[in-house]
Amino acid sequence: MQLSLKTTPRSGQDNDHTMTISGQPAYSKRHWHNTAIRANSHGISLTRDPIMRVDYPTLTRTIASLTAGETDVVALMATIVCETHHSDDRFDWTGFYRVTGPELLKIGPYQGGHGCLVIPFSRGVCGAAARTGQVQLVHDVDNFSGHIACASSTRSELVLPVRNGQGTLLGVFDIDSNQPAAFTRTDADHLTRILDTAFA
Ligand code: SME
Repeated sequence: MQLSLKTTPRSGQDNDHTMTISGQPAYSKRHWHNTAIRANSHGISLTRDPIMRVDYPTLTRTIASLTAGETDVVALMATIVCETHHSDDRFDWTGFYRVTGPELLKIGPYQGGHGCLVIPFSRGVCGAAARTGQVQLVHDVDNFSGHIACASSTRSELVLPVRNGQGTLLGVFDIDSNQPAAFTRTDADHLTRILDTAFA
């Protein structure tokens, strides 16, 4: 993240400055949230909280323990979303889209800002995951033809198909990040195992 700080003296008031900060505001909302700005007579300092990264063995154990014996799909989705969303600073929007009709996805449990309500299989990253049954690892949403921008801050996405034990497609699990190229194949592999176990 790049920041520049500028202080502007207000007219006639030597000790009273207006501080403006500019940088890359779309990079990550959370980065700004984690940034403390302190100003005193010696100058200005910025401090950041440590970056939080998911520990997949812990996430896997936590979800398995919370969902043990649960078969209700919405209860499972809501719990997986909550635990996953709060496990990693990269995850700015985390949610499920459910198959509710022929070639049709509708919003399920999610965390983050507003999510689009309806996505046909023919559209977007979520539609591509549902249509092809393949994980969609999108490093730059601007290069994905047909990407649906529910939030203009989203830069990269990971969408995984969700199937039950019989192999029927229940929906997709979508994680969006405000950081470019936020996701890796390792994320996809761990999350696929978590979903397969929960919805088996
Ligand atoms: N970007 C997704 C739509 C869902 S939202 O981002 C929450 C897509 O292209 O399918």
